[in-house]
Amino acid sequence: MSSKDNNLNQSISRAGTHAEKYDLRKTVFGTDDVLPMWVADMDLPTPPFVLNAIHSRLNHPILGYTHTPDSVYQAIIDWQAQHNYQVQQSHIVFTHNVANGFFMAVSAFTQPGDAVLVQPPIYPPFLSAPQQNNRVVIESPLILSENHYEIDFDAFEKAIVDNSVKLFLFCSPQNPSGRVWLETELRQLADICQKHNVIIVSDEIHSDMVYAPNKHIPIASLSEEIANNVVTLSSPGKTFNLGGLQIGYAIISNPKLKADYLKICKQNSIDSLNLFAQIALTAAYTEQGKQWRNELLSHFSENIDILETFFAKEFPKVRVMRPQASYLVWLDFKEMFASQAELKDWLIHKAKLGLNDGESFGGESQAGANFMRINLAVAQPVLNQALQQLKQAKHSLPVE
Ligand SMILES: Cc1ncc(COP(=O)(O)O)c(C=O)c1O
Repeated sequence: MSSKDNNLNQSISRAGTHAEKYDLRKTVFGTDDVLPMWVADMDLPTPPFVLNAIHSRLNHPILGYTHTPDSVYQAIIDWQAQHNYQVQQSHIVFTHNVANGFFMAVSAFTQPGDAVLVQPPIYPPFLSAPQQNNRVVIESPLILSENHYEIDFDAFEKAIVDNSVKLFLFCSPQNPSGRVWLETELRQLADICQKHNVIIVSDEIHSDMVYAPNKHIPIASLSEEIANNVVTLSSPGKTFNLGGLQIGYAIISNPKLKADYLKICKQNSIDSLNLFAQIALTAAYTEQGKQWRNELLSHFSENIDILETFFAKEFPKVRVMRPQASYLVWLDFKEMFASQAELKDWLIHKAKLGLNDGESFGGESQAGANFMRINLAVAQPVLNQALQQLKQAKHSLPVE
């Protein structure tokens, strides 16, 4: 099957669907006149076999309360096995989405005033989850080296010790950079956290979109001892474009951690999937789903190639960080703009593109300054349109 057969190169209008990416343009960019390439969902169709499963359930006229059937748990167990992650049904807890999961974890494993560690640049809710729960955000920024992020393990451990960190919110693969962590790195993080009694919450929502030869390793799959200290969060929401269905689950093998987590979920009455989330997850987490995902990854790889070639030719000063996973690309404009305000102004008003502002990923360490994140989960005509707009905006670049 080529991406053509999968409709991955067909532009689809999302008008009238209340898509956040489109409808919030005026609020976020001050104008509706931008091509939106920000919110991390796809302007590509959810796979037909998932849509068919939902359609077929609609043939029954009653949409009453459902309990979660074993088949949903089994689909997760089988799906995670592709990552050599052996999951048991009793380890799974559902939430309404993955962000729910780490918000619950912050409440479950820390008290107000406790320190929670993050590694900016990072998906912004990693910063707001502790903040909104009156916890203290401790930042151990990733190190930018040769257009690639590395972990400073000494600084990471020092941040834990100096601040008596209780919880580490980990993003694996990493958003916004698309970095896939190596086994050696995962082991080192796990060892440090174990040594200092820091619980790891590992958000693995991007784990099914990894480009070979990179390989996703769930940190909890490394050993029973490591798993004992980890809460893994995941969802088919990103890979299969199901964000609007609200799907999230946690895998927690340590009974004490699971009990603490579940208690908070129950207190907030968030411990189940809705009917369509159950159906979509079960349809997506299949062999057909794997095959479709592989096609999707080829499509994204092509888009990333196109973007890289374009920037190398038209804007060689911009550094494109090639993601090892997912469809988000982190762009470094440091050599092109003196300030983030100028960069934003040029992108919004001259190139007419709506990208994610790097600063929102940065926290106090400002690790996202000079960056923008672009979402390449689009049909190629849309990508070409975006690149055309950038090219046309060249003449209005600030004079050097
Ligand atoms: C790392 C990460 N976690 C969680 C989410 C949000 O997932 P959900 O919609 O399931 O809350 C995203 C979305 O971009 C993400 O990148």
